Amino acid sequence: MTEIRIEGKVAGRVVGGATPTDVVPLLEGEQEVFLVYDAHLAPAASALLEAFPAIRSALALETSEEEKNMDSVLLIARSLLEAGASRKALLLAIGGGITTDVAGFAASVYKRGIRYANIPTTLLAQVDAGIGGKTGVNFEDYKNMLGVIVQPVFTFVCSSLLATLPRREFLSGASELLKTFLIEDRDGRYGRTVSLLSSGSPDFGSDIWQETVFEAASVKAGIVSRDPYEHGERRKLNLGHTFAHAIEHEARLRGDDITHGEAVSMGILLSARLSDRLGLSKGMEGRLRQDFLQAGLPVESPYPPEVLAGAMEKDKKAEGGFVHFVLLEDIGRVVVRDLSVAMALKALTDN
Ligand SMILES: NC(=O)c1ccc[n+]([C@@H]2O[C@H](COP(=O)([O-])OP(=O)(O)OC[C@H]3O[C@@H](n4cnc5c(N)ncnc54)[C@H](O)[C@@H]3O)[C@@H](O)[C@H]2O)c1
Repeated sequence: MTEIRIEGKVAGRVVGGATPTDVVPLLEGEQEVFLVYDAHLAPAASALLEAFPAIRSALALETSEEEKNMDSVLLIARSLLEAGASRKALLLAIGGGITTDVAGFAASVYKRGIRYANIPTTLLAQVDAGIGGKTGVNFEDYKNMLGVIVQPVFTFVCSSLLATLPRREFLSGASELLKTFLIEDRDGRYGRTVSLLSSGSPDFGSDIWQETVFEAASVKAGIVSRDPYEHGERRKLNLGHTFAHAIEHEARLRGDDITHGEAVSMGILLSARLSDRLGLSKGMEGRLRQDFLQAGLPVESPYPPEVLAGAMEKDKKAEGGFVHFVLLEDIGRVVVRDLSVAMALKALTDN
């Protein structure tokens, strides 16, 4: 168990469990539990309803970026109202990052805020989206434009839930998993995770997978505890993301099919190249290229840096023309440098 502490107080917990129903002890004593689940996770939701029959209602959500909107928030609010949820209610979300983002947002505005908890079911959500309290929905073509930061009371991490995850979704999360250990290595965990990812078809129910995912979740919980509102250290979690957002933007314009995780993987490689070119690291790009390829991740952005520069300038994290680039000094040691896009482009493209 890892606690998220904000201003000295426990704001949330990350708890691991071998099977999905191991979450039940965390629900004991709750008088009003309402479930929201990704429609693809109906078997996990049914198992939980059987193990904890006191759950008052269960709502299945369709999840896509198009449906990550206020209509889904209103759907949840309506179902809570119809089921008689009071301010004591706990909203429990089972699903990937879309489900946990939308449910968390609905909970934070229903009756001015009820508690919520997450059972993330994608690798990306177990190590990233389900932890840290960023909630929200897309609005007017902008991703996550409406939202708030409110911590879930707990995030229950159970890697065996990943067994049914499509391979491409799994790999999408794998880049966030490696990203986490590039930020905080924890006794060689980065190298061990590269080996784990390279070792054929994963056994998600194994101790090593549960341990690895839980460790990554704990790294994120630690960073969130130290910087809940992203004024400093939390920015490190954006390693590779400035480039990734630009790659995703370009892919959308061209109608290319690139997942967020694939873009993050390519983006981390570009960050490594930039780190080498700025003299912060030596041979980082080559090392990560080899590791990421071995782990089955894409390493080459289909768009050159010149093409990505325009989108990077519009990055919502750009402040005063400068972008917070997260760069690597070593495995487990990242730094944030404010650079103009033009400076970064010059470093990346100079021979
Ligand atoms: N709040 C945060 O800090 C944060 C961080 C990163 C990303 N996000 C958000 O997370 C979202 C992406 O999350 P995601 O990648 O988890 O996407 P997702 O929720 O869309 O899940 C991906 C797909 O996998 C399916 N799925 C989920 N779990 C499954 C399982 N165990 N078995 C079979 N299918 C399963 C879903 O139905 C969906 O089709 C984005 O909207 C992004 O903005 C939020």
